[in-house]
Amino acid sequence: MEGFAMQLGVGVIGTGFMGKTHALAWRNVKAVLGGVMGSVPVPELRLLCDTPADKAVAMADQFGFAAATSDWQALVRDPAIDVVSITTPNGMHHAMAMAAIAAGKHVWCEKPMALTLAEAEEMADAARARGVVTMVGYNYLKNPAFTHAQRLIHVGAIGRVVQFRGWVDEDYQADPELPWSWRAKLADAGLGALGDIGTHLVSMAHGLMGPIASLIADMQTIHETRPLPDGQGRGVVENEDAAAVVLRFANGAQGSMVISRAAWGRKSRLGFEVHGTKGMIVFDQERMNELQLYQNEGPKAEQGFKTILTGPAHPPYGEFCPAPGHQLGFNDLKVIECAALLRGIAGLEAAHPDFGDALRIERVIHAIADSARNGGSRVHL
Ligand SMILES: NC(=O)c1ccc[n+]([C@@H]2O[C@H](COP(=O)([O-])OP(=O)(O)OC[C@H]3O[C@@H](n4cnc5c(N)ncnc54)[C@H](O)[C@@H]3O)[C@@H](O)[C@H]2O)c1
Repeated sequence: MEGFAMQLGVGVIGTGFMGKTHALAWRNVKAVLGGVMGSVPVPELRLLCDTPADKAVAMADQFGFAAATSDWQALVRDPAIDVVSITTPNGMHHAMAMAAIAAGKHVWCEKPMALTLAEAEEMADAARARGVVTMVGYNYLKNPAFTHAQRLIHVGAIGRVVQFRGWVDEDYQADPELPWSWRAKLADAGLGALGDIGTHLVSMAHGLMGPIASLIADMQTIHETRPLPDGQGRGVVENEDAAAVVLRFANGAQGSMVISRAAWGRKSRLGFEVHGTKGMIVFDQERMNELQLYQNEGPKAEQGFKTILTGPAHPPYGEFCPAPGHQLGFNDLKVIECAALLRGIAGLEAAHPDFGDALRIERVIHAIADSARNGGSRVHL
């Protein structure tokens, strides 16, 4: 990897929702977090890939990349590229990541890793064998509110954790007349709500409670067919819209999760309660700059939940904004994720969540699907 000590050649594949967040993060990470990242290589926005070619050229100009291509294989082979962002639909992650790893490139891949568990295992094995640094886009783990919740649990602020209740509800598939798309097809999307949004909830459950030991699950496809985009009848929805899960963590705590992509009115209701023997922590992504904390202390007449608004006391919030309560946004989480990847590439700390961590998340969502398909039998992980 030429020029590694000074500069890091960045290639991004995809320019949609996530492609833009990766491009912005690569562009802004030094300006925002340069003072606290340590000695890391400086990212250079060298090559942007999308199809068709004219779209790639236009987006490279908009995002500030030096060059554009419509050939992702040329991007991963290019000797000027040291790290590859993969932000394409799920079905392409495996081929792109395997090619990038084979070429010795570091990889920042969007979640879920792959369509199948076997593909995700192959990706994690290949990255380990080739010794490249990887990161998977579990951005919600980078929220200063979330890392503060982890700290509170670690210092015993709510005692011994005994129960996790998690939910992730969105309404992007709630409308029964929404046209059929690749998201409904097993071969293109893999799992449905579980892969798309359930993965994020599992990442948070792991981050707060540690590994899941076993689970029992049920799932349902709420809208079994959707109108085909060409108006010629209806297409079958092959994957799940919703799931409900009962969990047992390795630390002995219990848990539950409900997951839906068809929950009217919910836009990004990704949240949890962690119950402890001395208190409770509550989080809701729709209010991502807040935590609710209850501690069983002080006069009974004055007990109650308090709202903690994030600010410079919750690093790295202060690198974005010196004033508490002024609020970070979704794209800021990607900047923090990018900084963690850079520190991993520089060897300052292990990058998390890497392909190994993300594989454990994929194992959970596939275990949920297995349990549900087997009538709710308990699956041990
Ligand atoms: N981390 C998160 O919070 C989060 C949120 C949304 C989506 N995602 C994940 O990100 C991935 C992309 O989702 P999205 O919402 O950005 O999708 P999107 O449809 O907005 O963008 C996908 C991009 O890939 C491009 N593309 C498709 N085929 C290509 C090819 N052969 N070569 C080059 N480019 C190609 C498309 O033109 C488009 O620009 C998915 O895996 C999804 O699960 C993660």
